[in-house]
Amino acid sequence: MYVCLCKAVTDRQLDEAIERGDDSLEALQNSLGVATGCGCCQSFVEQHLEHAGCMGNNASQPLYYAAG
Ligand code: FES
Repeated sequence: MYVCLCKAVTDRQLDEAIERGDDSLEALQNSLGVATGCGCCQSFVEQHLEHAGCMGNNASQPLYYAAG
């Protein structure tokens, strides 16, 4: 599932980047480019990071972005 349409980034790519050690919005912006376009995905990315932290940096269940 695409989480960032501007940069065509999927939830899998996001999980992989987090597993590699990208532990902040800034790190994910640098590595994947998420939230560097329109910004609509920023809150999802931040929530996903929080979820990954709760799961010991192993988020196997992606959160789903609800527009609006
Ligand atoms: S959807 Fe991610 S920056 Fe636009």
